[in-house]
Amino acid sequence: MLRLPGLIDPHVHMREPGAAHKEDWDSGTQAALAGGSTILLAMPNTTPPVTDSTTLDLALDCARAKARCDYAQFLGAGPDNPTSAAELAPRATGLKMYLDQTFGPLRLDDMTLWMEHFDHWPTHLPIVAHAEGRSIAAVILLAQLFDRPVHIAHVARREEILLIRAAKEKGLKVTCEVAPHHLFLCAADLSGGRGEVRPRLAAPEDQQALWDNLDIIDCFATDHAPHTAAEKDGPNPPPGFPGLETALPLLLTAVYEGRLSLEDVLMRCHTNPRCIFGLPEQPDTWIEIDPDAPWTITAAQTFTRCAWTPFEGRPVRGKVTRVVLRGQVAYEHGKILAPAGFGRDVRSNSTQKPNPNLNQL
Ligand code: DOR
Ligand code: ZN
Repeated sequence: MLRLPGLIDPHVHMREPGAAHKEDWDSGTQAALAGGSTILLAMPNTTPPVTDSTTLDLALDCARAKARCDYAQFLGAGPDNPTSAAELAPRATGLKMYLDQTFGPLRLDDMTLWMEHFDHWPTHLPIVAHAEGRSIAAVILLAQLFDRPVHIAHVARREEILLIRAAKEKGLKVTCEVAPHHLFLCAADLSGGRGEVRPRLAAPEDQQALWDNLDIIDCFATDHAPHTAAEKDGPNPPPGFPGLETALPLLLTAVYEGRLSLEDVLMRCHTNPRCIFGLPEQPDTWIEIDPDAPWTITAAQTFTRCAWTPFEGRPVRGKVTRVVLRGQVAYEHGKILAPAGFGRDVRSNSTQKPNPNLNQL
């Protein structure tokens, strides 16, 4: 048995408000605990999207009532909210800018809008960009023009990770995350609607480039994006994979195989996300894992409501056996013990400020 700090997943889609049939704050935070996460950061592309005080209240009310692990909520950058979003910044974990097409209506095409958000959002609080390919180059440039850091979500391709390497080598303020599905799956591994995800699964050379540039990857983030199996198999399959319950076993399997060290995992699943997003220490909080336990991933064992996984049938090594959150056993041997509502908003009453020198990681 090994004791590790509670994991922090900085990229999770909770689906509430608006699509609780895919996931709600109850099922999603159960999945988080089962996967060893004690803090999750929730994305704003809900229905309605979280872009103002009404929708932020709506999301945070759901979270307050139902969450079983700790959390914070992103605000979405829209065409009309650069000023008002900045006013709400103290209640959010960061600003999410969608610069390329994905699930939901939040997308900013016009770079003058990117500039308005960069201008208004407080410099000491994180901006996360969904940017793919050349958009990454564009958003890194704009962040530097406004002399502020930017965090690039779910880097998936060779050209992207090499661009971020070059930017970091020049000392630019950019951090990034990679999702386990881009580390452990290629485009050829899944077909049809089940394989739809943004960024798309890539070629083996892209996957290899992520492994070859591990030193550039600041965080592993699940991008847990649950859609039901029926939706994925239907005529318009929405993009997204669940990931909360499979991330750590996949990473521990890579540790078992000697592709990663445990320190590599902890740095990217706890230390760096806590630093980048300025999250508080969780007192009396840890997870216990059986690092070598062999088991096979199946959707039947999961807590996520979406009831499928792109890793169905994959043999893995490493199991979360216990999660202790703020002194209370929250998960033990397959059972969730933290009640709904036990989770806390780590941004409320937080005096800790995010690290202003994100490229110093
Ligand atoms: O595949 C994805 N699904 N990528 C995203 O960026 C959004 C997510 C979702 O919300 O379903
Ligand atoms: Zn996402």
